[in-house]
Amino acid sequence: MKKILITGGAGYIASHTNVELLDKNYELILVDNFCNSVYESVKRVEEITGKKVKFYEADLKDFVQLEKVFESEKNIFAVIHFAALKAVGESVEKPLMYYENNISGSLNLYKCMMKYGVNNFVFSSSATVYGDPAEVPVKEDAPVHATNPYGHTKAMMEQILLDAAKALGWNVVILRYFNPVGAHSSGRIGEDPAYPNNLLPFVSQVAAGIREKVVVFGDNWDTPDGTGVRDYIHVTDLAKAHVSALEKLENDKGTFIYNIGTGRGYSVLEMIDAFSKACGHPVKYQIGPRRSGDVATVLADPSKAEKELGWKAELELEDMVNSAWKWQSMNPKGYK
Ligand code: UFG
Repeated sequence: MKKILITGGAGYIASHTNVELLDKNYELILVDNFCNSVYESVKRVEEITGKKVKFYEADLKDFVQLEKVFESEKNIFAVIHFAALKAVGESVEKPLMYYENNISGSLNLYKCMMKYGVNNFVFSSSATVYGDPAEVPVKEDAPVHATNPYGHTKAMMEQILLDAAKALGWNVVILRYFNPVGAHSSGRIGEDPAYPNNLLPFVSQVAAGIREKVVVFGDNWDTPDGTGVRDYIHVTDLAKAHVSALEKLENDKGTFIYNIGTGRGYSVLEMIDAFSKACGHPVKYQIGPRRSGDVATVLADPSKAEKELGWKAELELEDMVNSAWKWQSMNPKGYK
């Protein structure tokens, strides 16, 4: 079966993607430096699927370490590149660390692909590249306007990749994720952040009594209930988009960009309400000031992915919050 190299292979989105890929009998080579993940997630993926993966602990910033992986693994069909630092606030405080990690890590990866003749690539990008989109739902041809260093790194990683693809004849699928949430239906893998910067992991920890209350970042946005609206997508749906992307690379040549979202938006208050139903008690919250850099509404137009990849989100809000709560309840300390 086709061999796939996965960077950031122990992380939140990778672990869910790994389950879907192993179910389709892909052979997986995972690389991770554990800067935001633990090996336990890899073990659990193997337990869920009953299949084994090959694992290398390596840092993409270290070309020599990374090259050893490419030297040892012949016939890689495609790379899926998840590895990156991803906290918006931290990226504003430590931009150089973000550029160094995300950009030079990606450059090393692209250089290894060139040297070892790997031609197929799936890139884990983000709706963050659209910044504050002029029109929602946002389409893939909307201007790239990132508004923070993290977003800039994602936009740059895309651009460098497209330039390399053009020069070297690579086939590339760029997936721009909207807001990934939820966990695997088994409750055994999920998001395990050191600190919950995003809404749902925070709500989940409040529901579990680990934190006192959710602060809602503003209720005076230009939205139906005044709180921010986002396109939340179940991580299992997102994982399946990677299977579709690989199938696209098997059948088509070229470079392709897709929004991966549902096209349906929920407000912060709607998310808190849905989570309260999932956990069976009200999740405490308080309205606070706006968070700097936030925007009112971000929503995908996912129709291009449906048309060209044959992929469509299938899971509902209820599945997102129920699975997130199952993961939280079964693993109160995450993977620890
Ligand atoms: N929010 C709160 N309180 C919190 C956390 C978030 O009210 O404690 C609100 C935000 O203001 C926003 C919504 O919940 O309206 C979602 O916020 P998140 O931080 O969960 O997600 P963002 O949309 O801000 O950003 C996320 C990722 C980015 C990614 C982007 C893609 O953090 O990495 O989605 O659109 F690029």
